Amino acid sequence: MVDRQDTPTRPVAEHERGADSPAAVFPPSADFAARAVAGTDFVESAAADRLRFWGDQARQRLSWHVEPTETLDWSGAPVARWFADGRLNVAYNCLDRHVEAGHGDRVALHWEGEPGDSRSVTYAELTRDVSRAANLLASMGVVAGDRVVIYLPQVPEAVVAMLAVARLGAVHSVVFGGFSGESLRARIDDAQAVLVVTADGGWRKGAVAPLKPAVDAALAVGGESSVRDVLVVRRGGNDVDWTEGRDHWWHEALEGVSDVHEPEAFEAEHPLFILYTSGTTGKPKGILHTSGGYLTQVATTHATVFDLRPESDVWWCTADVGWITGHSYVVYGPLANGATQVLYEGTPDSPAPGRWWDVVEKYGVTVLYTAPTAIRGFMKAGREIPQARDLSSLRLLGSVGEPINPEAWLWYREVVGGGRTPIVDTWWQTETGAIMISPLPGVTATKPGAAQTPLPGIAVDVVDDLGTPVADGESGLLVVSEPWPSMLRGIWGDPDRYAETYWSRFGDRYFAGDGARRDEDGDVWLLGRVDDVMNVSGHRLSTAEIESALVSHPIVAESAVVGAADETTGQAVVAFVCIRDSVTLQPEGKEAMVRELRAWVTRSIGAIARPRDIYIVGELPKTRSGKIMRRLLRDVAEGREVGDTTTLADTMVMSKLEAQVRGN
Ligand code: PRX
Repeated sequence: MVDRQDTPTRPVAEHERGADSPAAVFPPSADFAARAVAGTDFVESAAADRLRFWGDQARQRLSWHVEPTETLDWSGAPVARWFADGRLNVAYNCLDRHVEAGHGDRVALHWEGEPGDSRSVTYAELTRDVSRAANLLASMGVVAGDRVVIYLPQVPEAVVAMLAVARLGAVHSVVFGGFSGESLRARIDDAQAVLVVTADGGWRKGAVAPLKPAVDAALAVGGESSVRDVLVVRRGGNDVDWTEGRDHWWHEALEGVSDVHEPEAFEAEHPLFILYTSGTTGKPKGILHTSGGYLTQVATTHATVFDLRPESDVWWCTADVGWITGHSYVVYGPLANGATQVLYEGTPDSPAPGRWWDVVEKYGVTVLYTAPTAIRGFMKAGREIPQARDLSSLRLLGSVGEPINPEAWLWYREVVGGGRTPIVDTWWQTETGAIMISPLPGVTATKPGAAQTPLPGIAVDVVDDLGTPVADGESGLLVVSEPWPSMLRGIWGDPDRYAETYWSRFGDRYFAGDGARRDEDGDVWLLGRVDDVMNVSGHRLSTAEIESALVSHPIVAESAVVGAADETTGQAVVAFVCIRDSVTLQPEGKEAMVRELRAWVTRSIGAIARPRDIYIVGELPKTRSGKIMRRLLRDVAEGREVGDTTTLADTMVMSKLEAQVRGN
């Protein structure tokens, strides 16, 4: 039940909600609004002068070696420069300055290992750890501008490694531990990384998942790589192979290294990191972020969207540091703001389904930021599990990664938030670097299922194919109409793809790749991707990348991959595969073949891309010009009646395909 303060104030129009959503709007409680970090003044100051607002945020929230006098340099897409004459050190902003301000004893990380071991690290300790690691990397020849790949589990060393790289002005490329050796190699090669930081293994689902073998495999194939050294954190305790001269234990290498390191100041536009994400082709894009603008926007949004009080809050963002959410809201935002946070290594249900709620209770987590897929998983497991714990420390909840269905939103608020907590549904992307559209918890009357309002200083629009704004209530394409401080600065090594993907469609407006609609209040509702990018458990996957993995298997002639709606994961990967004419497949061989193809995708991309279903079919539905009609395949994958087939080259294909799918 919602409490009186949260009684819905007006019915929500039919078009604003999913069929299953009750009519509800939740204004902030008077108490929350009165004490909010960001109130109406904050909103108004941005509305009055956007650039001045961002300049103020940059100067107030960060410590600059040289304060910027310029705010934005934008002579049109696709190159924006923010705070270009300012100089700063990102790691200094996340560490030393908090110690200098007297907060050295404040806990930066409450780390919780999956098996139950734990460690708390203060800002003073983290500053020393990062300084020592920076000295080590420098002694190994890492200099400003070099690329360092980080392939680690969710352990404090991941944060230390990222900040040590940043401190030197080098560029990190964190690769999520769920990616295969092959994917890792592609990322190493693309960025020409000189060093890899990894671990023997990490804990996941009650067992050690090895990581080092994937690094060995990555560096063994395809000739000489750019990597000179591999630093290995000991975490899993599993046996590992060793290449003398190249491999070094992290703890041994750090022995005797000084923990004093003077941070050098770099230009605001100095590269900070590359993070690979899926696009519409088979090749992932290395999204490039730089320093001053990025840090300004992650710090601003972390403080205001999550109403952060660094002296009393315990922040917990459940994302892995291998994703953008982990970069911006585990590492850079919270640490720039001097927050205390929880970092948890494992899965939500290890060793038992209530693990997350035990963590909330143990550390007194006050603000929790997670993904709809996790919430739906908890809904399925039953409300008794969270309700058996004391979650009364929670005061604000956030959601990210995919549209949150109103039912999950309401469950989150009622069961996890005890009917008290505001919920902020935050829309953003790897490319945007920081949150772009979200309610402000002390200002916005929230609507279950909507991200609602572009944040102060951010301008978005919903347009049709030609770029004309659509009327409220109509669906269109989401664009960001003005440059923003944490925007991507390019795709690593591929300026043409950068210009083409994001800036060729609507001129100086950024094309996000998402569908959206505004309701009669002007609030934005996100409608999912409009391109061939899938969203599985809040992770971005490309249909083209999985298709090309499948067709690289010797028996596969052709494949088409679609994202099909899935109750828990949002979307699931469903593949339709035609095998080569030369291969004769006995009906009893089909199962083994499907298993083999699943394992093949896992090997080539990683377990996160493993298809839920693979159907072996005779032919794929194509138009006369040879384009695969994914819409029809999605109908089949979702068990719906197949839509209009009149544009197919051969209209019989679909009935044959449906019969084959039924027979699979
Ligand atoms: O489709 C949108 C969806 O996730 C995409 C971005 O994925 P990625 O770069 O991996 O970053 C995820 C974490 C920021 C977007 O294009 N998305 C993300 N958040 C939301 C969302 N869709 C709807 N509502 C959201 N709150």
